[in-house]
Amino acid sequence: MKTQDNEDPAGKRKRPDIEIREMEIEDLAAVFNLGEKLFQAREVPNLYRTWDEYEVVDFFGSDTSYAYVAEMDGDIVGFTLGYIVTKRNSAWKYGYLVWLGVEPELQRTGIATRLYKEIRDAMLEEGVRIVFVDTEADNTDALDFFTRMGFGKPEEHLYLSLNVDDKLRESRLKNGNNRHRKNGRH
Ligand SMILES: CC(C)(COP(=O)(O)OP(=O)(O)OC[C@H]1O[C@@H](n2cnc3c(N)ncnc32)[C@H](O)[C@@H]1OP(=O)(O)O)[C@@H](O)C(=O)NCCC(=O)NCCS
Repeated sequence: MKTQDNEDPAGKRKRPDIEIREMEIEDLAAVFNLGEKLFQAREVPNLYRTWDEYEVVDFFGSDTSYAYVAEMDGDIVGFTLGYIVTKRNSAWKYGYLVWLGVEPELQRTGIATRLYKEIRDAMLEEGVRIVFVDTEADNTDALDFFTRMGFGKPEEHLYLSLNVDDKLRESRLKNGNNRHRKNGRH
């Protein structure tokens, strides 16, 4: 992968020579590996989407999903995966951009912009008028990127969590103590 001549003398990153195309079956492993590097590193505990090999295969195999890759010198250096959501009682079609990632060494060279535009235009052709993305509140790279792409109106959605295992242990302990008390033992 060529990255050393990625800067021009003015310090501005050059646009690499890449091709954006639909993901093919031969790309699955490369996309999975790049996602591992990008998403595992963030160690995001996310309940409704997990980066694993099934995720990539599912997107590849589904009729309503869209999958594009960025290729440079035969290497996969970026990808985006999304799908169209239709809702009962609604004529609207929504696009959901689920995954977008670019090889770290090539970030800020316009690759995600091109990937995003490709998937957005494909969704538009299918009648989508609103595209959703979501990201962790501390993923400033993604937030800056999506803001630059024109996304706005962030809606807060908070996850609450409860360690049921701890609660169960606590209540077993309490019940056990109560039994001991009833039996006159302390
Ligand atoms: C978010 C991500 C996909 C952006 O990819 P990218 O190829 O670097 O984005 P682009 O080069 O097309 O950036 C376009 C514009 O977005 C904004 N932008 C992108 N990354 C930014 C960053 N790290 N900091 C500030 N602004 C940023 C800038 O305005 C940029 O234009 P500029 O470089 O001319 O200033 C990339 O950082 C990434 O792969 N992150 C890890 C995976 C991830 O979190 N994905 C998103 C959730 S699924």
